[in-house]
Amino acid sequence: MGRSSSKSEAVDREIVTQPRDTVIILFGATGDLVKRKLLPGLFHLSEASLMPARFHIIGCAPEGSGADESDFGDYVHEVLGNFARKEVTNESWARFAPHISFVGTNKGGLGNLSAQVKRVEATMDDPTRIIYLAVPPPAFTELVALLDVDGMVNDSTRLVIEKPFGADLNSARRLNGDLHRVFKESQIYRIDHFLGKEAVQNILAFRFANGLFEAAWNNRYIDYVQIDVPETLAVEGRAGFYESTGAFRDMVVTHLFQLLGFLAMEPPARLSAHELHDKKIEVYRAIKPIDVARVVYGQYLGYKEEPGVAPDSNVETFVALEAGVENERWAGVRWFLRTGKAMAETRTSVTLGFKESPLHMFELDPAFKSKIRPNELIFELSDPGSVTMEVLVKEPGPTARLEVAPITFHYDESTLVALELEAYERLLHDVMLGEHLLFNRADAIERLWEISQPLLSSPPEPMQYARGSWGPHGTESLVLPFSWHLPEVT
Ligand code: BG6
Repeated sequence: MGRSSSKSEAVDREIVTQPRDTVIILFGATGDLVKRKLLPGLFHLSEASLMPARFHIIGCAPEGSGADESDFGDYVHEVLGNFARKEVTNESWARFAPHISFVGTNKGGLGNLSAQVKRVEATMDDPTRIIYLAVPPPAFTELVALLDVDGMVNDSTRLVIEKPFGADLNSARRLNGDLHRVFKESQIYRIDHFLGKEAVQNILAFRFANGLFEAAWNNRYIDYVQIDVPETLAVEGRAGFYESTGAFRDMVVTHLFQLLGFLAMEPPARLSAHELHDKKIEVYRAIKPIDVARVVYGQYLGYKEEPGVAPDSNVETFVALEAGVENERWAGVRWFLRTGKAMAETRTSVTLGFKESPLHMFELDPAFKSKIRPNELIFELSDPGSVTMEVLVKEPGPTARLEVAPITFHYDESTLVALELEAYERLLHDVMLGEHLLFNRADAIERLWEISQPLLSSPPEPMQYARGSWGPHGTESLVLPFSWHLPEVT
């Protein structure tokens, strides 16, 4: 999409608020996240005219970690060539290149970062300063203290941090304490990229803008909800991280519980960060502590042979569990969460199973009967995303038999799909605008660790499963008398 056309579409839709002048400081500048998501995302925002009138990106990384002041431009150019969503032309690179620079840090110091920030900010009008810690969590606390000592934190500073936000309740509290010593909660943006996905935000629109569904969004009509995020990818190249994290901490306590929050929350009075966060924490308070007897842990065959994995590792690469939300709306509804590496498909699916109609006046072909599922509403959340309502209709012909018919909305068929932002782009733009709606508050994070504590204290032994499968023995029986929506039977 060209610069001018995207600008006019955006203006036509009246959706764009231009952020104030901004300096973005990316710690971990030579790491994977910056390379794959943040630099390409900022480049795309710039080309879509969604960046401030004046902005500057300072990459920060320890000296000798793969880039320096003189070659950072080449590094970024190459990264964009590999990972940008749109082709990087000479013209688009010439537009972007003047907005980047690099500062090397050293052990125990931030080099000449504060001088560089002052130099850049002097050319701007009332700038926002965004500090993005794209570094492993053990580095957070020291970096935050150094930023404080260097005078890098003022009222215009915003801090973005990546999950995992701690590894249990105590470490999460410690981390929040360390952050709050230097930053106010309103300056902190805890990022969970699932919430930046267009189709995830659509859950809110779908629920609260459609009276039909909101009326049925409760235990009178719904039997179960499945949040299912299988991935074909194994831990390739991330064994170090994964060995200390595992599937539960990497995915469930973060992304899957965030989805649960959006699905289960009461309607906020308005779509403001404060109201939405209050509704989300109410749901989290209503989740029962996890019952270890309702959890299946798995480890794919061959995991222990991956480079960097301990030969006797019992880290889970798969988890399926049942959760319960004990409030008026959801009591009795069964919530099933599943995610794992090296599975049969990559999907991010949410399925709501509706109670069956009490009338059974239609004939069912015995061969077909086993394929009949209750009415299900399925959100496919991976880009480009879709929403499907599966209903039963009469089979054409001289019978009264039924068949399953999907009614589907596909995002990529929307005329406005060109306006879609990738998850990180949306979230980076929100940070520049000071919009907290899609970020996580400290109390929510701590509550999620609190309900996870029984499982963290006595995790079940992971059972082995074959690569390319749907998980270990016990996954199917967990959801009885229902069954998983995935894999889809055609
Ligand atoms: C990350 C996890 O947060 O999310 C990864 O650390 C996982 O293990 C990834 O693969 C999935 O995100 P997406 O956007 O590819 O669905």
